Amino acid sequence: MKLPIYIYGHPVLRRATEPVTSDYPELHKLIDDMFETMYAADGCGLAAPQIGLSIRLVVIDTDILKDQFPECAGRKMALINPEIEILDGEECTRSEGCLSLPGLSENVGRVEHIRLRWLDENFQPHEEEMSGFLSRCVQHECDHLDGKVYMDHVSATRKLLIRNKLRNLMEGKFNCDYKVKTAARRR
Ligand code: NI
Repeated sequence: MKLPIYIYGHPVLRRATEPVTSDYPELHKLIDDMFETMYAADGCGLAAPQIGLSIRLVVIDTDILKDQFPECAGRKMALINPEIEILDGEECTRSEGCLSLPGLSENVGRVEHIRLRWLDENFQPHEEEMSGFLSRCVQHECDHLDGKVYMDHVSATRKLLIRNKLRNLMEGKFNCDYKVKTAARRR
């Protein structure tokens, strides 16, 4: 089942999130729905707050990016309660977008190398070092679990230049081809 995606300006994107427990009701169904929602919107990552749930759950499938970023090949994962450890200070700046900010993309600086610890959909623990665009995707999605979006990493000067676009998102004045929920009452 495809779920509506919550858009920039909606308070659920800023809320604190709770760890997922193994007795969470219908977790596999939820993960399936999140993948379906992400694929239908042509995304490569989706975090639970983006579908209105304040829990620490992310889905990622970066395979579509493999031609440009080989580290992304075949990486389809559900991340339960993921934890990022920064391995060194090396930073890299690249353009990012987000399903919660349709039509926008901005350059974002992020650390290059991380170690990720997470539980998979069967609550099996994993630990892996990641770099490149895979590391970037993981950092972007985990930001959502802490009430952050990539726009928070963009300079105030740059945000001033795109303030009308950001306001339009908050007011529901935009077009995209997937179901959304905005901070505005109704379009
Ligand atoms: Ni996002």
